[in-house]
Amino acid sequence: MQNLKKTDPKIFELIKDEMRRQTEVLEMIPSENYASSAVLEALGSVLNNKYSEGYAKRRYYQGNSIIDNIEILAQERAKKLFEVSHVNMQSYSGSPANTAVYFALLEPLKDKIMGLNLSFGGHLTHGSPVSISGKYYKAVPYELDKNGLLDYLKIEKIAKREKPRIIVCGATAYPRIIDFERFGKIADEVGAYLLADISHIAGLVVGGIHPSPSKHAHIIMTTTHKTLRGPRGALLMVTDKGLAKDPELSDKIDKAVFPGLQGGPHDNQTAAIAVALKEASEPEFKKYAKQIVLNSKFLADELIKNGFQLISGGTDNHLILIDLRNKGVNGAVAAFALEVAGIIVNKNAVPRDTMPPFYPSGIRLGTPAITTRGVREKDMGKIGDWINRVIEEVRNYKLPEQREERSKYFSNLKKELAKDKKLLKISFEVTSFTSLFPLP
Ligand SMILES: Cc1ncc(COP(=O)(O)O)c(C=O)c1O
Repeated sequence: MQNLKKTDPKIFELIKDEMRRQTEVLEMIPSENYASSAVLEALGSVLNNKYSEGYAKRRYYQGNSIIDNIEILAQERAKKLFEVSHVNMQSYSGSPANTAVYFALLEPLKDKIMGLNLSFGGHLTHGSPVSISGKYYKAVPYELDKNGLLDYLKIEKIAKREKPRIIVCGATAYPRIIDFERFGKIADEVGAYLLADISHIAGLVVGGIHPSPSKHAHIIMTTTHKTLRGPRGALLMVTDKGLAKDPELSDKIDKAVFPGLQGGPHDNQTAAIAVALKEASEPEFKKYAKQIVLNSKFLADELIKNGFQLISGGTDNHLILIDLRNKGVNGAVAAFALEVAGIIVNKNAVPRDTMPPFYPSGIRLGTPAITTRGVREKDMGKIGDWINRVIEEVRNYKLPEQREERSKYFSNLKKELAKDKKLLKISFEVTSFTSLFPLP
C-alpha cells in the first residue's frame, strides 16, 4: 500500500491498525470472514472506474464489453454452484437484495411477508417493523418453539391463516439445519413465493454440509461475504421451481434491482464475487465448510461442559447462540469483556428476551473466520476455557434495573474492564495463540 501511504498517511495508518487488530484477535462474529488476497485484489482493481448501468449486452453506457464478460462469467459460476436458472449479480448487499425481491413481487401496504421474527433470529429485512420490509409491507412473523427450534406445524398454520405472498426462510442467528423442503411444501400449499435467505449458510450449502434450497425455494438470496468468503455483496437467484411458478420471475427481479432500486453495478465487486465463487468450487472449500461445522460442534460441547446454556442445546452449523441468563451476565457486558480479552463476538437477543436489543441476554459466536485461519477442533477446548474465564470474571457486574441508569453504569464498567488484569492476561494468551495462524 505504498501509494496510499504517500497520498493519505492517516488512512494508511488506520488500515494498518485494523489489519493488526484482525490479526491479533479471535474473530468469532459468525457473519464475518477473511476474504482471500485474490478476492481483495479484484475488489481493489481498475474495474472500480467503470459505469455499466443495465445488464450484459444491454448497457446504457459504452465501453462495457469486458465488463459484460466478467458479469456473465460470474453468473455462470453462481448458476453452477447453487444449481439455479438465473442469477442477478448486481445487488449492492443483502438488505437491498431482499428489498428488491419485495419490490418485484409485492404491493405496498397490502401484501404480506412472513419471516422469522427478528428477536428469534430473523433478519431486519424479513419484516421487522423498523425496516422498510415491515413498514411498507404487512409482516406476519413466525417464532421458534420453546426448545429454540423452527416449529413447522405452527409455521404452516400461520401461513394458511395469513396467506402471505412471500414466505422468507433463513436466519441470522439460527444454529440448526433449516428444512427447506418443508418450507417449500408450506409455500406451495398457500400459493406463496418461497424466498430462501441463505446469507449465513451459503458456504455450508455449496460445501455440501447443509441441504440446498435449490429444489424447494422459488428465489434464493445470499450475501457473498459470510461463510462464502467473498467480498461484500449479494446474489439473487431464481430456481427452476421459481420459473415454473412464474415465467417472468427473473425479469421482475432484474427490473427491481435495476432500474427499480439501484443505478450502476459495482463491477469490481462483481469480479471479486466471481473469484470467490471459483474458490468455493474447489475441493478445498468442501473441506473448509466441513471444518467450520466440526469446530462449531466441538466448541458447543466445550461451552456446555462449562455450564453455558445454548439455544436449541447445541449447533448443526457455523454458529452458537448462548443465553447468558443462568450465568447472571448481560450480553452487552459479556461481548465487551470478551473484546478486552481479544475474543470478538456480538451481543444478541435470545428467544423471548425480556431485555432491549442494546442490552440483550445473549451472545452469538461462530467459527467461519477462525477456521479460515487454520484453527481446528483440537483448539476448541482452549477457546471454550477462555470464554468461560471471561464470563466468570464479569459475573459480579449487574446492569441496573432502571433503564435510565444503564448507559452511565455501562460506560463506567467499560473503563473498569478495559484495565481488568485477568481479562488482559487472557488477551495476551489469545494474541500468542493467534500469532500461530496467519491471515490469508
Ligand atoms: C440472513 C441475512 N439476510 C440479510 C442480511 C443483510 O446483509 P447486508 O448486511 O449485506 O445488507 C444479513 C446480514 O447480516 C443476514 O444475516
